[in-house]
Order: sequence, then C-alpha cells, then structure tokens
Amino acid sequence: MRSAPDRLAAGSRRPAPQPFDVARIRQDFPILEQKINGRPLVYFDSAASSQKPRAVIESIRDCYSRYYSNIHRGVHRLSEQSTTAYEAARVKVQKFLNARESREVIFVRSTTEAINLVAQTYGRKFVGSGDEVLITTMEHHSNIVPWQMLCEEKGAALKVAPINDDGELLMEEFRRLLTPRTRIVALVHISNSLGTVNPVREIVELAHDQGAVVLLDGAQAAPHLEIDVQGIGCDFYAFSGHKLYGPSGVGVLYGREKWLEEMPPYQGGGDMISTVTFEKTTYNSLPFKFEAGTPNITGGIGLGAAIDYLEGLDLAAARAHEQDLLDKTVTALSEFTGLRIIGQARDRASNVSFVLDRIHAHDIGTILDQEGIAVRTGHHCTQPLMKRFGVPATARVSFAIFNTREEIATLVGGLQSVRKVFGE
Ligand code: ALA
Repeated sequence: MRSAPDRLAAGSRRPAPQPFDVARIRQDFPILEQKINGRPLVYFDSAASSQKPRAVIESIRDCYSRYYSNIHRGVHRLSEQSTTAYEAARVKVQKFLNARESREVIFVRSTTEAINLVAQTYGRKFVGSGDEVLITTMEHHSNIVPWQMLCEEKGAALKVAPINDDGELLMEEFRRLLTPRTRIVALVHISNSLGTVNPVREIVELAHDQGAVVLLDGAQAAPHLEIDVQGIGCDFYAFSGHKLYGPSGVGVLYGREKWLEEMPPYQGGGDMISTVTFEKTTYNSLPFKFEAGTPNITGGIGLGAAIDYLEGLDLAAARAHEQDLLDKTVTALSEFTGLRIIGQARDRASNVSFVLDRIHAHDIGTILDQEGIAVRTGHHCTQPLMKRFGVPATARVSFAIFNTREEIATLVGGLQSVRKVFGE
C-alpha cells in the first residue's frame, strides 16, 4: 500500500485522530465478538464485503428511529432532517474523494451500477462504430460486461491490455493498444483478485493524451488508499459503500462536472426531473439528474457515518497496519509448501490469492470455515483473469483495519489442517 498522508491533518476542524490501536478498533465491530464453530471469528473476507462499525449501525438505527422520511420532497420537519443528513453525506464523500464539487458525487446502488451508468450514458453518447474501449485482463466482470454490451450495440471494439505473470499491467502493450480511436479506458484501481495497485496517474495521462476518458473501478481501493480524484485526474471514479465499512445497496459515481453535464440521464423518474409535461420533460441539475426515484436514504447516511468513522482514526497508521498484515501474510504463504500465490505485483494492497496443489479452493474455504476463518474462494467475478493464470479458482485472504498478526498465524494453522484432511 502506498503511504497515505492523513487527509484530515491539514486544516481540519475535527478532533485529532485517535492513535491506531487494533484491540480498540476491534471493539468497534460487534460482529467480531462471536465464535464460529467454537473458534473466534477470523474475518478475512473484507474484499467481498466489509464488516460494520457500531457507529455505522447506530447511524442507520438513529435515522429510522428519530428522523426518517423521504428526502428532497417534503417541507415537514422529518423530510428536512433526512434531506440534510443525506446531503451532508454527499459532502463527506466529496471530501473523501477530494472532488471539486459535491454535485460531482452521484449516489448509486453500487460500483456495478456506477459503471453501467457511465457505459449507458457517456458511452452511448460518445462511443460510435469503429471506436474502441480499452480495459485490462484483471477486470472484474462488472468492468467487462457493461463495455461488451456497449461495444456490441455500437459496433465498437473492446480491447484488453494484458498483464505479466506477476499480475502487473504490461505498460508497453497498454500504450500500444491506446489509439486515437480509444474513447474510454476503464480499469481497476486495485485488483480484487491479485491485489495489484495500478499506476493510475500515468494511465490517465496516457489516455488523455489520446483524447480518451478514464473510469477507475475503486471498489477495492477506496477502503485502503487515499483517493484524490483531482490528483489522479480521472474522469470517473466508482466505489461501493459496503466495502468501505458502510451499508450495502449504496455506492458512488464521481464524475467530472463537464462530462456529467453533457451526459444524458440514466434512468427516468421522480427527482431527476425539473418539469414534466406529456410533450416534454426537462431534467434536474447535478447530481439529481442521475438519481431517479427514492434513493437508499439510510444507505447514504450510513456511508457518511462510515467515512466519519474512518476519518476519526489515524488513517496513515491504519493503512500501514493493513500493509504490514499483507506483507506478513505473503511471507507466511510463500513459505508454505505446495502453495502458489497468484499475483506478485510490486505495488499491491488489500488482498492475496493463492492455490494449493491438488486441493480445490472451495475445499480450502470449507475447511478453514470449520476453524472459524472466513476467506473467499472461487473466481472472484474475474473469470478471464483466472483463465490467464490457468486456474479455475483461488482462495483469497483480504484485510481490514481490524485484522491482527495473530490471525495470520491462525490462518497458517488452518492451512495445515487443510493439508491434513487431504492426507498430505
Ligand atoms: N467483488 C467482490 C469480491 O471481490 C464481491 O469479492
């Protein structure tokens, strides 16, 4: 993980962040108090979905029990309170991403919906026959299929930049595939299957030189890196609340204002309109133009609470802690006989995937679960990437701020149990 200066250190009126203390952090997550199969829960599946701190759970309970109502629609007290809380969350997201304006923050359902929104609006308007969309081998299905659908509809070509055996983008190939016909470059900031951190600033510069816009899938990066969309220079950035210690069913699309203004709406309905007659509808201003219908109100508020929670910590120390866990896990797994780590990028964060000789990943996951250890197994919604590495599936360990070094030792013990079950 790259070093991440605490974005609140300068000019913030918040109280000074508390020093990072993993034992204290763990107390913030009620779910960690339980046992699974008689063993303390070891949760190594935060890349799939993270657990929620009490502050997030309470923010949702508080909204529903004290001031819940529909937003943007009422003059009564509760509607105003809910609207204020929801719009305050948007500003928290704006600051979290270092976006220029809060109207550049669109609340959506998830990273997946954010990518589909861009494909169906920017893509449909600006991609035509013979144009190209450039992605990479390490994309999640949600950053492949929307572009395939767009390219099929428009007669455009989907190009795929390859990676090396360590799971790093081959930059020479990437440059070669980037042409004046490339309209959109869409790639993951951190790979959910390899942990690779892509050189996004360089990629944005290269893409802009060719006149292409860049969408970054930040689902894995938002919980682990400092995100500065202005510093990166990307045109679109997508992430999900549920991987950032927030609720599920809410996500964010950041878009540069000039593109959002030019893009047609995504879905039609209430709130995204200015006036409606049967003859003609005019659309609302940003960000509401892209937010049809009653949104996930408590989702947005809960996401704001998650950001508050994170920013109340010493984030630089939290990220250093996660990086330490990742490094220690990679070292421990490297010493495990018959284990192959899939993805050895020099710049990596968030997760590590591996396979064991002669043992299917699902069996690894099932036996680890018997010892209270939760890991994800399967293709991780990256089937083309699995094909690239010649494996049907991997086991993936992913980290959160609450994981500990002791849990890595438990994992290694669990893998020894896996071996024993298979008589090895
Ligand atoms: N995309 C999520 C993962 O990587 C679900 O597990």
